[in-house]
Amino acid sequence: MKRATSMDYPPGPTQKLPLFQFLNFLRDPIGVLVDISRYGDISHFKFGNQHIYFLNHPDYIRDVLVTYNTNFIKSRGLQLTKKVLGEGLLTSEGTTHRNQRQLIHPAFNQDRLTTYATTMTEYILRISNRWKDDDTLDVHKEFMQLTLAIVCKALFGFDIESEAEEIGDHVTTLVEYFNRARMPLGELIEKLPLPSNRRFHYAKKQLDTLIYRIINEHQSTRITHVKDLPRHNHHGDLISIMLANKNITSDNGNYVNSKLLRDNVITIFLAGHETVANALTWTFYLLSQNNREEEKLYEEIDSILGNDRLPTAADISKLEFIGKVLSESMRLYPPAWAIGRQAIQDCKLGGYTIPAGSTILMSQYLMHRDKRFFPEPGRFNPERWNSETRTNLPRFSYFPFGGGPRACIGEPFALTESILAIAIIVRRWKMKLELGHPIVLQPLVTLRPKYGMRMRLIRRNA
Ligand code: HEM
Repeated sequence: MKRATSMDYPPGPTQKLPLFQFLNFLRDPIGVLVDISRYGDISHFKFGNQHIYFLNHPDYIRDVLVTYNTNFIKSRGLQLTKKVLGEGLLTSEGTTHRNQRQLIHPAFNQDRLTTYATTMTEYILRISNRWKDDDTLDVHKEFMQLTLAIVCKALFGFDIESEAEEIGDHVTTLVEYFNRARMPLGELIEKLPLPSNRRFHYAKKQLDTLIYRIINEHQSTRITHVKDLPRHNHHGDLISIMLANKNITSDNGNYVNSKLLRDNVITIFLAGHETVANALTWTFYLLSQNNREEEKLYEEIDSILGNDRLPTAADISKLEFIGKVLSESMRLYPPAWAIGRQAIQDCKLGGYTIPAGSTILMSQYLMHRDKRFFPEPGRFNPERWNSETRTNLPRFSYFPFGGGPRACIGEPFALTESILAIAIIVRRWKMKLELGHPIVLQPLVTLRPKYGMRMRLIRRNA
């Protein structure tokens, strides 16, 4: 790669990314970012007339996500997903975002998590009971269905299990659309009468029908104020919390803004399952390659839970090694592998002036594998997550859940769900990667295994 000549920009490949480089980016965005990161902690390149700044240092990432966060909005690519997500929590900005965050927050408090944990355990057991000794399965697909069913039941009080496969296919169609929409020419391609565009509109319609079905079911049994929400039944779920809020309902209980409700339900529906499914898939892949760590996990589960006790929310903090395994898995395979922003005003980063309208890219995948912060970065080593390492790491060298005012609202939900799933599944099943199964990264909106994850199941315990 040639260096940029302009003194105004940080170093990077030449001004216009050559065509082959552009095609490369579509094919292998992580590989291209790895190349670009060689230019330094802040680098610059262009896509057509779009200026892109790639940040590869925790301090610069903190500047964008925290210190100067009001100078940035979500990236152009994410804004295009408004076509599906509307003005929900993930895509809205400013006051609309702040109000919604406040509104949704109670759905993720500790009391609610304790209740969700019961639902999570029930669904994890269901899937684990369905599996048979010596089965070979695509566990990525299994985890996608599991996490979708959990989000729907825990947060929307709706049992989706029988439809999970079909709905999972619609979700995949949307995710592929999101990925294409992010690309240059994406907006143009979207207007063409292509079968993929027809599939997208069909999938969106089907999901909308489902979302409104879920919302309508809540209307018949709803309560009208947050303080009346019972703590331990499904009426304390996210939809009930939103319906009980006066910003959404008028005094007589009618919707003021049913679109806002729909936008947030579909946002949580999409944001809340694929990420966790990927975290579990990569974790079980890593365990299948690291038997010593797998055995250690097994021992921890035995010592904390005994032979047959099921884990509860109260066990989460005691299952320390599982926590470390999960942190290490999300370091190596962060389910959200990159974050983008757009500058709304000129600003300074790393000594450079970043013009308004520029795109900022930050990648968890690259930062988490940076040897300045993680010795032997390619090695799966859960023990690196002892309290000393955690305290000494610069804040944004590890950021699987983002940070600042736009940090993941579902982090505690995701951690509870993942730790329970690992504890319940590891106790009963050992997973072995199918011989010859190719492991190829597919960095779409989330980091998926391109060919799924085919594993043979070996029963450990009844
Ligand atoms: C391992 C699992 C998960 C990972 C790695 C993850 C990662 C992230 C990241 C990196 C962001 C910030 C994006 C940005 O700054 O542009 C985010 C935001 C978000 N996540 Fe998650 N997430 C996970 C699970 C969940 C779950 C379970 C839910 C809901 C049940 C959820 C709901 C959301 C929402 C609504 C936002 C937008 C928050 C806002 O802008 O205020 N996520 N997530």
